Formats: sequence, C-alpha cells, structure tokens
Amino acid sequence: METRTQFFTTPIYYVNAQPHLGHAYTTIAADVATRFKQMDGHDTYFLTGTDEHGDKIVQAAQKQNQSPQEYVNKISQLFQDLWPRLSVQNNQFIRTTDPSHIQVVKNLLTRIHDKGDIYFSSYEGQYCFGCERFYQDRELVEGKCPDHGVAPSTIKESNYFFKMGQYQDWLIDHIKTHPGFIHPRQYETELLSFLKEPLEDLCISRPKSRLTWGITLPFDSDYVTYVWFDALVNYISAPGYPDGALFKKFWPSARHFVAKDIIKPHGIYWPIMLKAAGIDIYAGLNVHGFWNVSGSKMSKSVGNVTDPVAVTDRYGVDAFRYFLMREMVFGLDANFTEDVLVSRINADLANDLGNLFSRVLSMNLKYFKGVVPAMTSAPDISLVPDAQAAVDGFQKAMARYEFHKAIAAVWQFVSSMNKYIDMHEPWKLAKEEDKRPLLAAVICNLLEGLRTVACLIYPVMPGTSEKMLTALGMTIPEKGFFLLDEILSWGQIQPGTRLAKPAILFPRIDVSATDASDEKTAPAKKKTGTGFTPEIKPVITMEDFAKIDLRTGAILAAEKIAGSDKLLKLQVDLGTDTRQVVAGIGRQYTPKDLVGRQVVVVANLKQATLMGEDSQGMVLAAGTKKELVLAGFDVQVSPGSPIK
Ligand code: MSP
Repeated sequence: METRTQFFTTPIYYVNAQPHLGHAYTTIAADVATRFKQMDGHDTYFLTGTDEHGDKIVQAAQKQNQSPQEYVNKISQLFQDLWPRLSVQNNQFIRTTDPSHIQVVKNLLTRIHDKGDIYFSSYEGQYCFGCERFYQDRELVEGKCPDHGVAPSTIKESNYFFKMGQYQDWLIDHIKTHPGFIHPRQYETELLSFLKEPLEDLCISRPKSRLTWGITLPFDSDYVTYVWFDALVNYISAPGYPDGALFKKFWPSARHFVAKDIIKPHGIYWPIMLKAAGIDIYAGLNVHGFWNVSGSKMSKSVGNVTDPVAVTDRYGVDAFRYFLMREMVFGLDANFTEDVLVSRINADLANDLGNLFSRVLSMNLKYFKGVVPAMTSAPDISLVPDAQAAVDGFQKAMARYEFHKAIAAVWQFVSSMNKYIDMHEPWKLAKEEDKRPLLAAVICNLLEGLRTVACLIYPVMPGTSEKMLTALGMTIPEKGFFLLDEILSWGQIQPGTRLAKPAILFPRIDVSATDASDEKTAPAKKKTGTGFTPEIKPVITMEDFAKIDLRTGAILAAEKIAGSDKLLKLQVDLGTDTRQVVAGIGRQYTPKDLVGRQVVVVANLKQATLMGEDSQGMVLAAGTKKELVLAGFDVQVSPGSPIK
C-alpha cells in the first residue's frame, strides 16, 4: 500500500559560498514536490540545512579573518533567511554544528566501528584539498583533479577506513530490484555502471594535525571524521534518529533531492553507511541536472553566479519559481538567461494565464455586474473534461517529478479556455436576451476553470494561487490549498458572490525598457549589466569555432512531440546520413511548412534526449524564443555541404 507520509530533503549546502541559483532550484523543486504531496493527501516533512565542517570552511573563514564558528553562523543565516523569501516552507533547518547532530554522527560511527566495518591503516595517496578526498590514479584527468584542475598532493598518513566492498552486491541488487529508487533512469544507469568496478574502501578520518574543524571520532580523539560521513547523517539526525517520533514516522518515506554532482556520496556511500549501521535505507534519490547561466557553468571568475534574491526582487518570487520549474527538464541540464526568463513571463504568465484571468473577470463584470451567475445546465459546453485532463496530466507528471510536464498540462487547459471563449463568443450571446442562460453557463464554466487552474498552480506559485482564489470569491482552507480530490467538483464558486475587479496577475515586462538608472524600480533592463546575470559570451579562437561541424540539411519529415507545443521531431537529410533532430520551433512552424526546407545543422553536437526523444544535432534559428526564424540559404544547396 502506498505510504501516506512523505519526507523530502535537499542537500545541506556548504557555507563557503553565498546561496545561488543552483541551491535555489533544488530547494524550490523539493518545496514544490512537498506542496504537491500535501495536495495529494500526504503528511509531509521537508528538511534543508547547511554543511559546516571541513577544510573548505576553515579556508573561507580565514580569508575573512573570522573564526570558523563566526563565519558559519553568518553564512548559514543567509540560507535560513533566503528560503522564506522564495516561498519555501521547510519544516526544519539543520546545521552540522548542532550538538544533537554531532551526537548522532558519533553514535553511527560507534555502531559501524563496533561491527568491525571500520579499520585503521596507513595509506599513501593522491589527495585533492579542494574535494577533501583521496583520488585513485584512474579517476584523475591528465594527472589532475577533474573538478579543480590541479594536481593532487601525495599524502601519507594513517587513517580510518570504511569497508564498503562487502556491501557492493547488496547495493547493486537493491538498485535493480527497486525501480525508481534512483530517479530519473539515466542516473540509475550511471550508478550501476560505476558499481561495475570494485568499490574502494572509504577513508573516513582526517588527522587533527591537519584539520580540527570537524567531529572528533568517538574511538580516537586524534582524528575528526570526513565531512561526507558527517554531512550525510543529517538526514537521520534531523528527524531525531534513533527514537524521535519524526524519525519513526517519516524516515521510511525519505526521498533526497540532489544534483548530479553529488550522486556518488548519496547513491553509494549513504546507503552503505545505513546498511552497515543496521538502519533501513532511504526510499529514493531524485537527481537533477545543472543550471548553466548564459551558456556557461556558474563561476565567480566568469561573473555569472546568479543571486536568487536579485532575480525575485526584480521579477517576483512566483515568476522565478515558475520559470525554474517550467524550463528545466528534471534530470537534464538547463540554461538560465534573463531573455528566456522574460519571454516566459510575458508569454506564459502575462499573456496566457494573466489575460485569461482578467478577460473572464471583465466579462463577468460587464455581463453580470461582477456577481457570479447561477450555473445553468449546459452539459454540451462543459469544461469539466478539459479540467479533468489537466488534473490527471498534472497529477501523473508531478508524481514522477516531471515538473515541466505538469505545468504544461495546466497550460494546455489555459489554452483550451482561451479557445473556448473565442468559440462561444460571449459578447454575441450577451446581445440576445434568450441567450442569457447560455452566457451564464459559459461564464460559470470559465470561472470554475480558473478556480481549477488556481488550485493546480499552488505548488509552483502559491502566492498567485491565493490571489486568484481570493479574487474568485473562494475561501481558502486554513492549510492553504485544496486537496486534488476536491478540485474537480464543479460549482464551488457560489452564485451571488460579488467578485473583485479584475486585477493584473503578471504585468508584461517591457523588454525595450533600457533605463537602468534605478535598479530597484526599472521593470526590466538592458541585456547587459543586469546585476545578476551578465550576458557573458566567452571569447573563442578559430580552432574552437572549427570544432563545430556546421552542415546544410534538408528536412525529410517533421512531426509534433506529444506534450510539447514547442518541440518538433525532424528527420534531416545530411547527405551522408539521416538524423533525428528535436527543434524548439513548434510555435513558429507547422510540420507541414517544414518538409523540404533547407536548414543549417550543428552535426557534431552531443546527443541529447528531449521529452524522451533522441536528438542528434541542432538546427539553427535566429531571434528570441517567441520569434524564431530558421537559418537558411537563398539558393538550393545540396544536403551535407559543409558551412565555412
Ligand atoms: N555539502 C554538500 C552536500 C551534502 S548533502 C549531505 C554540497 N554542498 S553544495 O553547496 O556544493 O551544494 C551542492 C548542491 O547544490 C547540488 O547537488 C545542487 O543541489 C545544488 N547546486 C549547486 N550548483 C548547481 C547548479 N549549477 N545547478 C543546479 N543545482 C546546483 O555538495
């Protein structure tokens, strides 16, 4: 039987840097999932926090002339202050410097040590100070740490090791026999392929001669524990392992949200640590991709580290949450640019949803003086089947953490309602007295449809959901949302209710507004100098450019991809072979227009999967997301011709 409790966690973030877009995404994703589970009738618990021990923290504190404790207090507070600003409703915020956490780490170490799974040995190896771990030769790239690009130092020391190899077959079997344990599938494959190699024992101590900012080993006071052995334990120390009521209630349903960078500690060390300590392992691991900013990895030196506070100050928290959830396919990488954010706000929020909302309320004001009419029976024009499809699509996708699809299902309904208005032409019905009952039915269906949308967007945009429901005269339950099961019953907006004057949900952002002199009030700014995402394009050499295999292609076939209004699947003749390419041009071109067209293809782009479809290249187009024009030639060129 499906469990009705749900425990979600985020990684506990290092306090050596300020919170950025990446931290915001994982935490918002977990918050959206939590709110959805609540709507689905679950009792939820949501944990986040900060990871405060280790070399990196000591170095960061030293740079600021602060003691580690002073420093961690300050940065941890930034994270704690951020979450409410992003409408994140975590139940608990754990810090690895909390005494109760330290106690549980010691308890776990003692259990595993007593069992004989931790041994002491002398070791010489290649140590990367940035990663705070030893590397095997085969893991290095040209002799350097793959993450930090520096050669590790050879260190010889005696340390404590955790025997992991003996649990390897058990872990492989667990992953294979529990579909969805690692989600999405590609990360399960990645872990299983990693587990094909024998697991090395894990060095879990650091001598105090080298590091003191950590938790002292309970069985040797000359050592502190390795930061991962400390950090992972937060997931059980926070709810009160071993006897806490929260632990007992929620641990069986624990699902961790992380990005792909920390899949190994979560997918390998952590289940083995739990198994060795005789604790049930967590229920699942949700792994997402990375956000790049303006096409590059976020980094201080590039100057594109995106501050979520600056973005929400400018565009609003709900728009930010919407963008993050709509734009990233959970599991794949995504790109953040201000342009794309603004076009999504204008197209999806201001135009599609915002216009529909004010259009319907304006009609109700005009034709019924703002008072909800009595619903007349008109089964032929009911919007219930479309609402049902939206609720089903939303629920199915959310249950699989496919946030973008869940949102698309709701927007499909928004678009159906806009078409419904055009089809029924209420302005014509209003002119004929005998059509008043039909007009009332049309308006009531639209109001109920808006109510449905308002309920469904709650996990992603809680503020907008509340605003819409209040404007629709609904009393919001104390818990802040309606259960999924309650949404579909039509007629909840009481006839006779006087509705508020139509309000603008999302003001359109004027992309041409260039007056950046007043950062706080300017609705939008120039492309450069945004203060949070400079449009930095790295300078490349001719050799870099020559790496791109640009070729002409001819489109042989094109079709829409189910569930996306933007993506088309193209079969492109490249002279030597035919490629399948997924292109985001569905809003501008119909499949019919495309067959026979010449296009420019990036032929050596790494294969990607979009909405479940393989894409072996990219077609080039000019313009913003809204106005895309395919690149081409003014005379016929044979497919496969290289472009120089
Ligand atoms: N302290 C460890 C985690 C210990 S959990 C027991 C750590 N901290 S971190 O501050 O580096 O956070 C890493 C996590 O931040 C990623 O797994 C992801 O959740 C989030 N992100 C950081 N940068 C990101 C992107 N560029 N894109 C998406 N998420 C990213 O690792």
